[in-house]
Amino acid sequence: MNIAMIGLGYIGLPNALILARNGNCVLGVDIKEDVIEKLNAGIMPFDEPGLEKLFMEAKDNFRASLTLEHCDVYIIAVPTPLDREMKMADLKAVKAAAKSIATVLKEGDMVILESTVQPGTSRNFVIPILKRTGVKRFSYAHCPERAIPGKTLTEMVKNDRIIGGMDEASAKRAHDLYSTFIEGNLFLTDVTTAEFVKLMENTFRDINIALANEFALISEDIGVNVWEAIELANKHPRVNILKPGPGVGGHCIAIDPWFMVVKSTKSKIINVAREINDFMAIHVLKHIKDMIHGIEDPKITILGLAYKANVDDVRESPAFRVASVAENEGIDVVFHDPLIEGDPNNILDLNRAIEDSDCLVLITDHDAFKELDPRKLLVRHKNIIDTRNVLDHAAWMKAGFNVKVLGNGNNISCP
Ligand SMILES: NC(=O)c1ccc[n+]([C@@H]2O[C@H](COP(=O)([O-])OP(=O)(O)OC[C@H]3O[C@@H](n4cnc5c(N)ncnc54)[C@H](O)[C@@H]3O)[C@@H](O)[C@H]2O)c1
Repeated sequence: MNIAMIGLGYIGLPNALILARNGNCVLGVDIKEDVIEKLNAGIMPFDEPGLEKLFMEAKDNFRASLTLEHCDVYIIAVPTPLDREMKMADLKAVKAAAKSIATVLKEGDMVILESTVQPGTSRNFVIPILKRTGVKRFSYAHCPERAIPGKTLTEMVKNDRIIGGMDEASAKRAHDLYSTFIEGNLFLTDVTTAEFVKLMENTFRDINIALANEFALISEDIGVNVWEAIELANKHPRVNILKPGPGVGGHCIAIDPWFMVVKSTKSKIINVAREINDFMAIHVLKHIKDMIHGIEDPKITILGLAYKANVDDVRESPAFRVASVAENEGIDVVFHDPLIEGDPNNILDLNRAIEDSDCLVLITDHDAFKELDPRKLLVRHKNIIDTRNVLDHAAWMKAGFNVKVLGNGNNISCP
């Protein structure tokens, strides 16, 4: 089959390459010239385990271009960021992708939307753009993606998926395509239910994390270690509390709940969960201020810019929120993340980032941070805040560090 993948990011590129490896002729389209140039030179535009190998296996059936051409199937995997003012999905990229498909759409083609959108987007927004072409017989389905960065290639193949069709025939046709590479179960429904289910999944996780964060705040007040308490609570066969932390990031959990809220005046708990998770940055600031109390012109080092462990994805990362609230208090902030290169003025290598530092703040639980030897770290003041509870605290204290752990009510450990 000739398949066009529109949007070659964390979701679109692996998906395109899996389809190409499976023998389809895949045209990858993106608006970023550097992405197209890199791919045509065999360079991956971002890090994802196994992506280069997949590219080598798929490259004979894959080409990247800035321009869309006619294909049998068009899959849209463009970003749907949060419109911060309106607190709803910014559909500009989806609209542009649908309009470009409309210029080449022919009778019998199939269009699939993988991007996460608010319920009603397919029926009220995308399908009408395609219908206005005058093409009468096309199939349309929404197949929201569930893969997670860091494990994208495995999850794209192994996970169960929901397929929502514009009609039964569309759902069945999309099922036939996805079943060529997905080993998980495929469940068919209508487009709006599929859109809603995707948001429910991420909202469920956001609320669960908010509950864990609320437990962390309470634990600090009552002198309990939340990490131990959650582990014990999760021994109950029907309890599964997620982990607290400095806030929620990523392109999904931190924003998708808003796509749900905007559709109804009835949601309450979803708003509150978002508030709690965003508040955690201010709570981390409270710990920072305790640690640097009395220090003139304080400087802190944020360890980890990525929103989650062992990936280079910084979208919606809590590291930025913590940095902003700290800078607003006049605290100098620098970053170190072994997986991210960036502005050389404040994303620094480890030694430069920690020299003159008055407090290290671990935001991302990268494996590289767990392996740090605290005896070798030359800082101005030996303070560390572990917002993920991943460090060997005894070793850090032995090396002379004051250690604070988010959610541990037995907290401050002085050497
Ligand atoms: N990354 C994830 O973990 C994940 C998981 C599940 C669902 N999703 C959803 O999948 C969708 C894509 O996410 P992503 O992480 O791959 O985004 P991304 O930002 O990594 O990639 C999107 C790509 O689309 C390109 N693009 C933008 N507008 C375009 C247009 N008009 N035509 C062609 N290309 C265009 C961008 O240049 C970019 O390269 C989003 O809706 C997201 O919510 C993402």
